[in-house]
Amino acid sequence: MCYLFAPRPPLTTAHMDTLTLTRPDDMHLHLRDGAELASVIGASARCFARAIVMPNLRPPVATVPQALAYRERILRAVPEGIRFVPLMTLFLTDATSPAEIRQARDSGVVFGVKWYPAGATTHSDPGVTDIARVQAALETLAEIGMPLLVHGEVTDTDVDIFDREAAFIERLLAPLLQKLPALRVVLEHVTTRDAVEFVRSAPAHVAATITPQHLLFNRDAMFRGGLRPHYYCLPVLKAETHRRALLEAAVGGSPKFFLGTDSAPHGRAAKESACGCAGCYSAPAAIELYAQAFEQAGALTRLDEFAGRFGAEFYGLPRNGETITLQRREWLIPESLPFASGTIVPLAAGEKCPWKMTSS
Ligand code: DOR
Ligand code: ZN
Repeated sequence: MCYLFAPRPPLTTAHMDTLTLTRPDDMHLHLRDGAELASVIGASARCFARAIVMPNLRPPVATVPQALAYRERILRAVPEGIRFVPLMTLFLTDATSPAEIRQARDSGVVFGVKWYPAGATTHSDPGVTDIARVQAALETLAEIGMPLLVHGEVTDTDVDIFDREAAFIERLLAPLLQKLPALRVVLEHVTTRDAVEFVRSAPAHVAATITPQHLLFNRDAMFRGGLRPHYYCLPVLKAETHRRALLEAAVGGSPKFFLGTDSAPHGRAAKESACGCAGCYSAPAAIELYAQAFEQAGALTRLDEFAGRFGAEFYGLPRNGETITLQRREWLIPESLPFASGTIVPLAAGEKCPWKMTSS
């Protein structure tokens, strides 16, 4: 048993050695561009039928023509014989106009607008500097029913990094929903009990994605036996009490919580550095890591709706027709994989994983 994973409670689904799932969707994914895109797209497309693609390229994907062009580059990079549909997003800036958002809706290929507070995370510098500046854009989103996808962390340096999500909810998100109650919101990669409780008590059109790293690991994983940069992402891993709240939410059968890996590839050198980048590259073992987390909670049978139903329903998409199969077959997550001209270390590299996807 790998020491990074919490001990497993007795299973209610101990008899299950084969798991057949609706082919899932990844409702939060970073695919990058160019040679990096070519390196990582196969890992997601092997498993996921569709993915909400994050727009934090440099420069950001901030206009509809940019989203259309990026979509074409993604489609060209998908390995032959695999069907994968990128669901595009726009990067919200202080300058995003209501007209751009209407054009995004009319394009038929843009499914949300991503709000990064400027400076909150990787490649977020052109993000929103002050919510007052995007008021008109947010009103348009509420009017047309397009989801606002939220990186929910304040950037105020007086707020401790572990409290930035809770402060964001209190200072920005709750007041925003008071003002625009019809706004459809996905609070991305929730990491705290506070976020789970907020989403649960909000209206049905407020939902959240949950990553595999926040389900499997608490903040100790970043410090076990030394500093482990490959477990560093933003929002940062939190204390065990928060991990448990996330796991309960993920397996609880609420359609408000669904799969979004936040797989965020950075080359090995950019992570293993004096100032390492935030982001966990989970795509190579994503569905298997979710299966491991759900099994820990004795709830493998709930994985299908979390991975293949609730996200699609939130975005008004049909459920995928195909299935994938996972087998109980222990394997080692690779220590390293090729990435552009270098290498990349996936999430949980070198660790044993009890489930393996065998076919789609
Ligand atoms: O850890 C993260 N990495 N969090 C984000 O919000 C962005 C992402 C990235 O793009 O690398
Ligand atoms: Zn992300």
